Amino acid sequence: SARVMYIQGVPLPPFPSMHANLLEQDGFKARNDDIWVVNWPKSGTHWMWEIVKMITSGRAELNDSSKGGTMFPELCPLHVIEKMASPRVLNTHVPLKLFPKVALNSKIIYVVRNPKDAFVSLYYHATGMEPKSANCSWNGMYELLVNGKAQYGDWFDHVEEWLKVLENNPNALIVTYEDMQMDLKKQVRLVAQFLGHEKSEQFYSDVARLCSFQHMKKDKKDVRSVWAEDSEGIFRKGTVGDWKNHFTVAQNEEFNKIFCKRMKNINLDLKFEL
Ligand code: A3P
Repeated sequence: SARVMYIQGVPLPPFPSMHANLLEQDGFKARNDDIWVVNWPKSGTHWMWEIVKMITSGRAELNDSSKGGTMFPELCPLHVIEKMASPRVLNTHVPLKLFPKVALNSKIIYVVRNPKDAFVSLYYHATGMEPKSANCSWNGMYELLVNGKAQYGDWFDHVEEWLKVLENNPNALIVTYEDMQMDLKKQVRLVAQFLGHEKSEQFYSDVARLCSFQHMKKDKKDVRSVWAEDSEGIFRKGTVGDWKNHFTVAQNEEFNKIFCKRMKNINLDLKFEL
């Protein structure tokens, strides 16, 4: 079973304060230099956040996300977000309808990952966190995911609704996890250009090196606290295609059918293996 709570029809992780935090966001005040990293969970949030922080600060060194505020407004009260120093780099997983409308004019980076890999990653996330938000097998989790009942809801709805407002929007950049895996330096350069913070080629190389999976897994200690002792935490495996070790043949066939049907409404050039 998965422990989720519904807010405006969206299944969300069962954190007691989340409802209050989301309600408060009606009073969210956008700043001109806010930057948002938006995605369905487990699609590379922490990875992109780190890259954006390095670019905006101009310092190629890992950041401590527990200092100076939060990454996720839905996880903290508004007064904390208001005290954050500019430029704020904010993350959210919420579907479009729960996102503060005034923030839609901000710069937004939307990260997409092969949903199969994101699903597997969410399975380890939901079963490895303290307190656990799911206590189920992969098969149980697959059923929830494929029916849009896991935390943050249906993957296709999320991508479709967000891309409708982000495509052709000069303030938005859409990046895939797979492209980041393929050539990280190239994506770092793209993000820097998008943010209007162009840097040297040396800087892009440094950021790419520091943001490698191995390096982040070893040196980023700030995101460890909510994880069970025996889990890998956020930096679990960091590969493309781990779904092949989890999806059964039947699940894969079923999901591919759904994928082909639902992607007809979504204008996205994805380069991952189905
Ligand atoms: P896996 O569980 O497949 O390993 P999020 O930050 O959105 O919660 O996403 C977490 C996923 O991104 C995890 O996937 C994690 O390993 C992966 N990830 C985090 N940092 C990464 C990096 N530097 N390089 C590659 N993958 C990374």
